[in-house]
Amino acid sequence: SVYAVGIDIGGTKIAGAVVDNEGHILAHLSRPSPALDAQAMVDTVVDLIEELSRGRRIVAAGVAAAGFIDADQSVVYYAPNIAWRNEPLREKLERRVALPIVVENDANAAGWAEFCFGAGRNVTHMTMLTIGTGVGGAIIVDGELFRGGFGAGAEIGHLRVERDGLLCGCGARGCLEQYGSGRALLRYAAEISHDPVLGGKLAAYRHGDGTIDPAGVRQLLELRDPGALRALRSIGEWLGSACASLSAVLDPQLFVIGGGVAAAGDELLSPIRASFLQNLSAKGFHPEPEFAIAELVNDAGVVGAADLARRHAASV
Ligand code: BGC
Ligand code: NA
Ligand code: ZN
Repeated sequence: SVYAVGIDIGGTKIAGAVVDNEGHILAHLSRPSPALDAQAMVDTVVDLIEELSRGRRIVAAGVAAAGFIDADQSVVYYAPNIAWRNEPLREKLERRVALPIVVENDANAAGWAEFCFGAGRNVTHMTMLTIGTGVGGAIIVDGELFRGGFGAGAEIGHLRVERDGLLCGCGARGCLEQYGSGRALLRYAAEISHDPVLGGKLAAYRHGDGTIDPAGVRQLLELRDPGALRALRSIGEWLGSACASLSAVLDPQLFVIGGGVAAAGDELLSPIRASFLQNLSAKGFHPEPEFAIAELVNDAGVVGAADLARRHAASV
């Protein structure tokens, strides 16, 4: 087997793994993410790569990052939810680690892993949405990962779904991310917590400033609290209608829904599917794609990043 390291930089933690060429994880580590400190972020990634490669023959390291990445897979142009602006991530890492480094968008990495080893292994055209702090996207066209002309394509979270809508971390207004992300879920939950019928349980987790405790919402979702499920349905409706638009453009055989919020499983998939069907163009005549929850769950990012880095190292 050939081994590569995969790193997944998230808003709350940075995960790392040693992955073989069949997508199996041999070792796993994670650290809290210093999301607002670009330098500490690099230090943490270097530590993880060094610790994971110690005593092993590693061919490359792939680093998945939540932002717009350039075509050379080295610079993060912009990250809506992290303090990166034209961050030369690859150069900074290669200066400190003796391995070829590939930087990849986090959702692209996750989508690639699902396509090779998970929910998408039997299709050739797949679109993935990752639902976490933000909304990420990955597009597989004819078995290949689509990156766009400048590297920064497949940013499905920044598909604009409302003309004068909420301000997004990307600087534009009305992006899907503001209506279909984990953060949006919390906003809906906070709103619903005021509802005399649905809000009872949610209200107990509302803070003085009007925001709501994420762990509380997660727990209520697990308990199938009607208020929490109503909030989940709201993001599902926005996501499903966006998938209908994506279907008109990309026509995938399969939509994969991943990211932390996808742990809600069918409770999230059903409103997505329903709203998709309601909004699909040429309904009744356009073949219907499948919808599936990601199979690799929290490991998709590290597995995909490692696989892409290994392939890149083999091709140069
Ligand atoms: C970023 C994407 C990222 C997604 C999920 C979005 O805000 O623009 O690059 O893939 O969040 O982390
Ligand atoms: Na992407
Ligand atoms: Zn945006």
